[in-house]
Amino acid sequence: MASIGASDDVTDATPYIQPQRAMDPAVYLDPTIFDRERQTVLATTWQYACHSSQVAEPGSYVTFDVAGESLFTMRHADGSVRTFYNVCMHRGHELLEGTGVRRLIVCPYHAWTYRTDGSLHKAPFAEGRAGFDAQQICLTEVRTENFLGFLFVNLDEAAPAMDVVYSGARDAMREFLPTIEAMRPMEVRDFVADSNWKIAVENYNECYHCKNAHPSFSKGVVLPDSYTITPMGHCLHHHATSSPQQYYEIDLDASPHAAEYASFYLWPLFSFQVYPGPVLNTFCWRPDRVDRTPFTRGWFTPNGANSEVVRTVAAEDAATTVAEDLDLVRSVQRGLASRGYRPGPLIIDPEMGLNSEHTVAAIKSWYQQAMLGES
Ligand code: FES
Ligand SMILES: [Fe+2]
Repeated sequence: MASIGASDDVTDATPYIQPQRAMDPAVYLDPTIFDRERQTVLATTWQYACHSSQVAEPGSYVTFDVAGESLFTMRHADGSVRTFYNVCMHRGHELLEGTGVRRLIVCPYHAWTYRTDGSLHKAPFAEGRAGFDAQQICLTEVRTENFLGFLFVNLDEAAPAMDVVYSGARDAMREFLPTIEAMRPMEVRDFVADSNWKIAVENYNECYHCKNAHPSFSKGVVLPDSYTITPMGHCLHHHATSSPQQYYEIDLDASPHAAEYASFYLWPLFSFQVYPGPVLNTFCWRPDRVDRTPFTRGWFTPNGANSEVVRTVAAEDAATTVAEDLDLVRSVQRGLASRGYRPGPLIIDPEMGLNSEHTVAAIKSWYQQAMLGES
């Protein structure tokens, strides 16, 4: 289990600015290591479920996978939201698929029915049978937290709360985008990275490659000298001032930080990103193989209202930054398998600016901490 404790000074960046090398390529290539990561990293950390507005009405649900487990998040009649393993307590059939609304959850196998709080409602022909006690049967619940309207789950009952793991991030996000809790999904775009998930999130969190590999960046989206990436617990907070010209219109009165860029990467597989505007968007990576990482980009607007500006930015982002990054990570996945590769030194700037890979060091540190913490 990951050892993140309330007493740790998790914002101390000193370990991340020490000279060090990239990780051993085996951690990006070996399927048995990926299987272990599911237990040590993915099953002990906070993972995105869905936006709370996607389960707004009683009985509405969203299914998703975490660490190889099928789960669903559902709204109960009293307004509370719970997440359950997507498995029937009788003989193990899966219960729900996709998204939808159910007054009762009916198992497709023998029609046991469950209430939206997970308790067993009825099992056909079971009353009075020896060994059957409906009161004792309930779906297995998973911890769920609401983080500014975004729902996250953790398969580890002993894991620290999100405000401990990502210390200071919730307040910083609310300060940066005061309207964040009124934002709703407007558009979703799905992608697949042909790489290990760590290659994808390392690439996301360093901008040392930006000038060279992103032509749009070198045209001046943000002011390079203003770019910083600061650890906040197990969150990496990127911040920059945007350049005066953007290819889309910005309402400078829309937010106190409308002319800035920020992102908040929540270790290991989620990031909030705010483009100038402000245009709120998210990354959710869901690795399903050692060398394959499907991910979703969510685009959010106030109340989910249609915005041609946001649609334009989402399309431009997919065609440029995302497409360019997909090529980079695909190549790295192939390159790391080369017999000629030796892990090189990370380029670390103690000022934690644009061209620094201290973030790759932070991810390495959190990864090794989680892998060592396995029981
Ligand atoms: S497995 Fe669900 S009712 Fe039998
Ligand atoms: Fe990139």
